[in-house]
Amino acid sequence: MPPQINIANDLRLRQVFQTKALLMHRNERHLQLVRVNERRSIELTLPDPIAILLEDHGLQFELCDVLERIADGLPDNVDRTMSAAVVAVLRIGMPRHMRFEEEALFPLLRVRAFWEDDLDRALSQLELEHESDESFALEIADELEALAINGQAKNAEMLGYMLRGFFDSQRRHIEWENTIVIPLARRVLTHDDLHALRERLLDNTPSRHAHGSLHGLHEIIERAGGHGERRNTI
Ligand SMILES: [Fe+2]
Ligand SMILES: [Fe+2]
Repeated sequence: MPPQINIANDLRLRQVFQTKALLMHRNERHLQLVRVNERRSIELTLPDPIAILLEDHGLQFELCDVLERIADGLPDNVDRTMSAAVVAVLRIGMPRHMRFEEEALFPLLRVRAFWEDDLDRALSQLELEHESDESFALEIADELEALAINGQAKNAEMLGYMLRGFFDSQRRHIEWENTIVIPLARRVLTHDDLHALRERLLDNTPSRHAHGSLHGLHEIIERAGGHGERRNTI
C-alpha cells in the first residue's frame, strides 16, 4: 500500500478519535453541569434554617401582640380560647426556640465569628435573657391557664403587670436578634453549618404546626380573624 494512503488513513483515524474524544469530553462536562445544577436546585428547595428562625421571630412578635391584647382586656374581656393557646406556646414553642438558639446557633456563631468584638458577651446576655424569660413565661402560663379554666384571673392587676413586663422584654430581645444575630449568621455560617442547623430543626420539631408551636398559635389567630399586620416575617 502506498505510504500517502496510510498517512491519509492515519489522519482520518486521528480526526475520528479526536472528534470522539471531544464529544466524550463535552458529554462528561455536560453531565457535570447537570449534576451541579441538580445539587443546586435540591439545595434551593431545602428549608433555609435562618429564614425559619426569622419567621419564628415574626411569630413571636405575634405572640407579644396577643399577650398585649390579653393585658388590655383584663379583667373581664379576655378570650379564654386564645389564653389557652398562648399557655401551650409559652410552655412548648418558646423553650424549643430558645434551645435551638442556645444549643445549635450560638455555638456555631461563637466558632465562626470568634474575631467579632464582644460577640461572646452579647450571646451570653441573650442566654441570660432566655433563662429569665423562660421562668417568667412559665409563671405567666400558670396564671393564664387559671384564667382560661375559670374565666377570671387570680389577680388581674398582677397578671397585667407581668404580661406587660414580659412582652416588652421579648420585643426588645427579638429586635436585637433580628438586627445583630440574624445578619451575622447570614454572613459567617458555612454551607455545612446551615445543613447542621437544618437537621437540628427537622429533628427537634416533629411538626411546626403542632400543639404549642408558634405556627399553631398563628393558625388559631387567623381562624379568629387575625389581628393586623405581622412584623419581621419572611
Ligand atoms: Fe433568643
Ligand atoms: Fe430568637
